Amino acid sequence: MAKFVLLGGSGKTGRRLTMTLEEQGHPAVVASRNSPARFDWHDTSTWQPVVTGADGVFIVGPGSARDWSGQLTAFLEVADAAGVQHAVLLSSRAVEHFPGGAVDLAEQALAAGPVPWTMLRPTHFDQNFTEAMFVPIDGLITEPVGTGAEPFVDVSDVAEVAAKVLIERAFIGERLSLSGPAALTFEEAAGILSTASGVTVRFKPEDPAAHVARMLAAGTPQEYVRWRLAMLKAIRTGADAYVSDGVHQVLGREATGFADWAAREVPDASWSVPGAQRL
Ligand SMILES: NC(=O)c1ccc[n+]([C@@H]2O[C@H](COP(=O)([O-])OP(=O)(O)OC[C@H]3O[C@@H](n4cnc5c(N)ncnc54)[C@H](OP(=O)(O)O)[C@@H]3O)[C@@H](O)[C@H]2O)c1
Repeated sequence: MAKFVLLGGSGKTGRRLTMTLEEQGHPAVVASRNSPARFDWHDTSTWQPVVTGADGVFIVGPGSARDWSGQLTAFLEVADAAGVQHAVLLSSRAVEHFPGGAVDLAEQALAAGPVPWTMLRPTHFDQNFTEAMFVPIDGLITEPVGTGAEPFVDVSDVAEVAAKVLIERAFIGERLSLSGPAALTFEEAAGILSTASGVTVRFKPEDPAAHVARMLAAGTPQEYVRWRLAMLKAIRTGADAYVSDGVHQVLGREATGFADWAAREVPDASWSVPGAQRL
């Protein structure tokens, strides 16, 4: 069985990827700053011990707030010397809307490096509504996206794609765009979240300038604010509403719909009502 190391393996995608790999009999080493296999992008001494003996590595970067391509280039040298044969990067489809940003530079570093690679470019995750940036606060989601739609993707689909790509060492040199099966407005998403959670979830469009002020007041780094605004503008203008077929291309099945994901995971969200009527 091939051995895989998952950098950022304790995160949303890595946790699901760990389960998928282990279900298929492949050992997966979860590596991050707070995992038993300690790996820190800012501490080069942690790199070589973690990748030794790995056949493939799944890469989640240290965040999109600043350029980490130099660290990625140096890490790939270490991985190559350790015999790693495939590096799968968790990138983002939003890279299209922010050329020259941290995600774009990381993709360039991977493509220029010595290890055969695959890039996964998901759209916004369904799980952003349960575990990340779109979690409702007191039942309210407010973002500067107007009536724009986004084909949110289920992280479990992303993890399944990553597992297949790693196990089969397939799609080398390819950029796989991964989306859900249909684009939804945030208002439509809020309606589905309400049904699945038993909590009334509302969406209110936010003014982009007010959003920036809110982010900066919360101490969010400028570079991340610029990246986030570019992503949200792409939703607002409709530029990101198109569907990508990467899930079908790799798994041979349709991507999971938002309502099916919500019925499965929203009841366990911290803001959901236990025992409420489900879809
Ligand atoms: N959210 C979305 O909608 C979306 C859509 C497309 C692409 N993406 C991309 O997905 C990536 C994030 O993946 P995710 O959501 O699965 O992860 P996540 O839930 O944000 O977790 C981040 C992971 O990285 C680790 N980590 C953070 N800083 C680190 C450092 N300095 N050194 C080593 N490990 C570090 C964390 O563990 P420790 O804290 O233990 O270190 C954790 O395992 C980003 O690159 C983002 O651009 C996200």
